[in-house]
Formats: sequence, C-alpha cells, structure tokens
Amino acid sequence: MKKRIFAASLALMTLIGSMAFASGQSEASSAADDGMITVGYAQVGAESDWRTANTESFKSTFVEANGYKLIFDDAQQKQENQIKAIRNFIQQDVDYIVVAPVVETGWETVLGEAKAAGIPVILSDRMMDVSDPSLYTAWVGGNFYQEGVDGILWLNNYLKKIGRDSENINCVLLQGTIGSSAQVGRTQGITEGIDANPNLTLLAKQTGEFTQAKGQEVMESFLKAYSDIDVVFAENDNMAFGAIDAIKAVGKVPGQDIIIVSFDAVHEAFVKMIAGEINASVECNPLHGPRVAEIIQILEAGGSVDKIMYVVEEVFDMFNAEEKLPTRQY
Ligand code: AHR
Repeated sequence: MKKRIFAASLALMTLIGSMAFASGQSEASSAADDGMITVGYAQVGAESDWRTANTESFKSTFVEANGYKLIFDDAQQKQENQIKAIRNFIQQDVDYIVVAPVVETGWETVLGEAKAAGIPVILSDRMMDVSDPSLYTAWVGGNFYQEGVDGILWLNNYLKKIGRDSENINCVLLQGTIGSSAQVGRTQGITEGIDANPNLTLLAKQTGEFTQAKGQEVMESFLKAYSDIDVVFAENDNMAFGAIDAIKAVGKVPGQDIIIVSFDAVHEAFVKMIAGEINASVECNPLHGPRVAEIIQILEAGGSVDKIMYVVEEVFDMFNAEEKLPTRQY
C-alpha cells in the first residue's frame, strides 16, 4: 500500500515529490502492491529485557494478518547502524519508518533524506533532538524525566518510612547509554532530586550501557571505591540485576544493606522485588507496537495525530510487587 496516496496529512509538496519517487522499483514496491503497509523498524538493539519486550510488541503487531509487512533491523546499540538501516528502508521504499533512536542527536541528514522521499518517520521509545520538528511525524514513549523524579520521590518516602530521613545517605548512579533520551531524562530527574535533598549525596555516576554485564562491572568498581554506599539508582532493571550480583559478591545484602531503585519494571524485577533484592522499579512501558500501529492507521485514514504522546506509567515496589505481578504483560 503506498503511503503517499493515503497520508493526506502530509503537505502537498511532499506528496508530489514522493509520488515521483514512487515510480522507482524496489523490493518494498512489490510488497506494497499486495495491499500490505510496509513498516521499517530501526530498533536500538537487544541490550535488555525491556528491549526484548519492545521488539516482541512490534513483531506481534506488524504481522501480515493485520495488513503489515515489517522490516526489522537490530542496530546493536550503534547509531551508525541505525542510520544505515533507515537508508535501506528509504531504498526499499517502505510506507513508514519507525525509529527508537540510540541517542538523541545527529539525525538531521538521514531524516531529511526520508522526508525528501516522502516517507513519514514515527519515533517510538526514545526521543530525537532535531532542529526541525517536521523531520518526524510523531513520537510515542515514556516520560524519562518524570521517571527519574518518581524514583527520587519513592526513595524520599521510603527513607521516611524506615526512619532514615534525617541520615546522610550516599547514592551512586548507574547510567544508561550516554546521550540516549532514557539516560538524559532519568539522570536529570535523579540528580535534580538528589541536589534538592540536603541529606542525599551523589558519590559517583557512570554508564553501564543499559546491560547487566556492564552494570555489574561498574557497580564492582563503585564498591571498591566507596565502602559506604547506601543507595544505587540503576537506570534500567538489567543494570540493577548486575549490581545485585556485585553487591552479593562483597558480602552485602541487596535491598537491605544497599537500597536499589531501578527503572523499567520488567518481569524479573518483580521477582527480585518480591525477594526484597530490588526495593522499587519505576515503570517504563515497552509495549509500543499497538500504539505505533494506531498512529499509522490514523495517518492512513487521512487523520492527524498529536506530535508527542506520553504513556502513563506507575511505580512498583517491594510492598506491592506480589499483588501486581499477575497483571503484568512483560
Ligand atoms: O529506552 C528505554 C530504555 O532502553 C530501557 O529503560 C532500557 O531497558 C532499554 O535498553
């Protein structure tokens, strides 16, 4: 199915330019002729349980039975791979390009190429920081800054609950991929919250690349450098899993000797919250496949969509994890 005919919300200039482009031959043109909507998804990688759930959400939504042909690309956490994937999608003349960008900056050129080809770009999960917002049609994802703020609020309430709110509390921060909007937003929310509470001190922050192995490695180095860590913020659950192993290896009890606040709220984090090893996990919802499909259906029908769409998210902790686990989808 040719996007250029149905995406009535696009400007006329774009429409004319893209109809000219559509006369070229490509693999996707023939796919397009069978009535399917072809979607190229430039995925970040497979670095975490969250990412696996996100990939599954796209793969189970964009199926032939629903009228889609999905071209999926795993960029292995490298921006240059995503740029290549987007160029491939343009060459294949897909109907829509969906990107979960590894980092926020550096997208103007390739998005300009997609725009010139008349292919709408939908951002999902992470944001891009581009000078020209017309380079993408819409974005849907979580509010990473708010997630960071919620993590701090949870900690402040918990310290009060356990009678430690007037103690000096030393924190360390395992950051995600530097320059990704998930890292930028969460780090900002967390560090602002630490600065705002005179009892909280940030001893160190370093990236663990959103992976369990790197999270463990960085936590090991934090534990060597500081004997008095009270709290770990891990900007995703997988880094928290790595931190738990590092904490156990030095004979400390995760969740008790060191409070752990993480992000994502994947299934295994619930298991660890129930076991008392993670104290809280701030939700980041990965189930964006149906949300992006809804955006595409509206565009196909000639409608327009909000530019920015935030997903509502919750905070889970060791007190409600057992009750909430059966309701979770990932
Ligand atoms: O962009 C969302 C983040 O990316 C998730 O927190 C993390 O697990 C993933 O790798």
